[in-house]
Amino acid sequence: MFRSTREKTILLTGASGVVGTALIPELARHRVIALTHRRTPSAEIRKVRGDLTQFGLGMDPDVYDNLAEQVDTVIHAAAITDFTVGTEATAALNLAGTANILRFAEDANASLHYISTAFVDRTDLTRDSLGAAAANPADYLNSKRAAEQLVRDSGVPATIVRPSVVIGDSATGEIARFQGLHTLAWSVLKNNLPMLPLDPTDRIDFIPQDILARAIAGLVEGGITSGEHWITAGEAALTTRQMIDVGVTAGRELGIDIVAPRFVAPEMVDRLIRPVFVEPLPERARRQFDDLLATTALFTNTKTFPSTMDRILGVPAITSEELAEALVTSTSYLARTRGLVRSKEAAA
Ligand SMILES: NC(=O)c1ccc[n+]([C@@H]2O[C@H](COP(=O)([O-])OP(=O)(O)OC[C@H]3O[C@@H](n4cnc5c(N)ncnc54)[C@H](OP(=O)(O)O)[C@@H]3O)[C@@H](O)[C@H]2O)c1
Repeated sequence: MFRSTREKTILLTGASGVVGTALIPELARHRVIALTHRRTPSAEIRKVRGDLTQFGLGMDPDVYDNLAEQVDTVIHAAAITDFTVGTEATAALNLAGTANILRFAEDANASLHYISTAFVDRTDLTRDSLGAAAANPADYLNSKRAAEQLVRDSGVPATIVRPSVVIGDSATGEIARFQGLHTLAWSVLKNNLPMLPLDPTDRIDFIPQDILARAIAGLVEGGITSGEHWITAGEAALTTRQMIDVGVTAGRELGIDIVAPRFVAPEMVDRLIRPVFVEPLPERARRQFDDLLATTALFTNTKTFPSTMDRILGVPAITSEELAEALVTSTSYLARTRGLVRSKEAAA
C-alpha cells in the first residue's frame, strides 16, 4: 500500500458496522478513535461514546473539544442502512447526523471521507406500489443523496465514497453482519427461492469488504481530500444469471443440491404472480415477498456504475473472475456460519 508520511488521528463513525469493522485493520498505522454508539467494536483502539443524531455528537462539551483538538481526519461510515426503519429515523442519522459530523470536522479543521453509496445514481427505482413491503429503499437513497449535497456545500475538504453492495472478505468471507445479498444467497442455498423477479441480464454490482476498506484507506494514505470515488465492480459486475450459476456451483461444492430459481420479469410478477399467488398469502409472507420486490427494484434495468478505484494508488480494478470467487467464498462462509455445512475446521 502507498504510504503518505504523516500518521493521522482519525475519528471513525460506524466503527462497529460492516464497513467500519473491515476498515480498522487497514488503518492500523494511524491513531484511530472509534465513535461508538450502542455496540462497541472489539478492536483494541480508543473509543469515545457519542450519538450523531444529537447536537455536539451527544458528547460532553469538554470531550467534544478535546476530540476536535486531536482529530485531523474524519471517516463517516455511520448510517441507517436498514430499508425498513422509516423516513424520519433514516433522515435523523443519515442527514442530520451528517450535518453534525460536518460541523465537528469544521470545528476540528479536519478533512472528511463521507461513505455514501453508488445507488444514489438509481433515481428511477421507485416502484409504483410497495404493496405490503416494510422496506422502502427510497428513504435510504434520498437521505444519502441529500447528505452528499450537505457534504458538497459544507466547505469542509471532503471526499464522497460510493461503494456498491458490500459482501464478505474476498479471502475468508467474513463480515460483521450478513447483508441483503446474503439473505438472497441463503434462500438459494435452502431452495426457498423458486423465482427471482429480475432479468437474467440485470447486474448486481458488489464489492468485497476488504477491497472497499483498502480503497478508503488508500484515500487517507494518499492525502486525497476531494472528489467522488466509485468503489464498484463497474463493467466487471456479474449478471444475475452469472450470480445464480456461481451460487448453484458453490452449493454443489458444499454438498447442497440446489435448484436454480427461475427468472421472472418484474412486470409479469405485478400482472400475474402477485395478484394470483401472493395476495391470498398471510400478511407476513406477503410482506416478505414485497420486501424482496422493493429491494430487487434496485437492480432492475441497471446501468453499469462507473468504477474509479483503480485511480486510488495501490487499489487495482476487480475482475469478474475475482468477483465470482469472492461470491463463492462469501456463500460458503454463510453456509458454515449458519451450520448448513460443517466448518472447515470440523471437516479437517
Ligand atoms: N453495507 C453495504 O452493503 C453498503 C453498501 C454501500 C454503501 N454503504 C455505506 O457504508 C456505510 C457503512 O455501512 P455499514 O453497512 O457498515 O452499516 P451498518 O453495518 O448498518 O452499521 C451502521 C453503523 O452506524 C452506527 N450508528 C447507528 N446509529 C448511530 C448513532 N445515532 N450515532 C452514532 N453511530 C450510529 C452503528 O453503531 P451501533 O450499532 O452501535 O448503533 C453502526 O456502527 C454507510 O454509510 C452505508 O450507507 C454500505
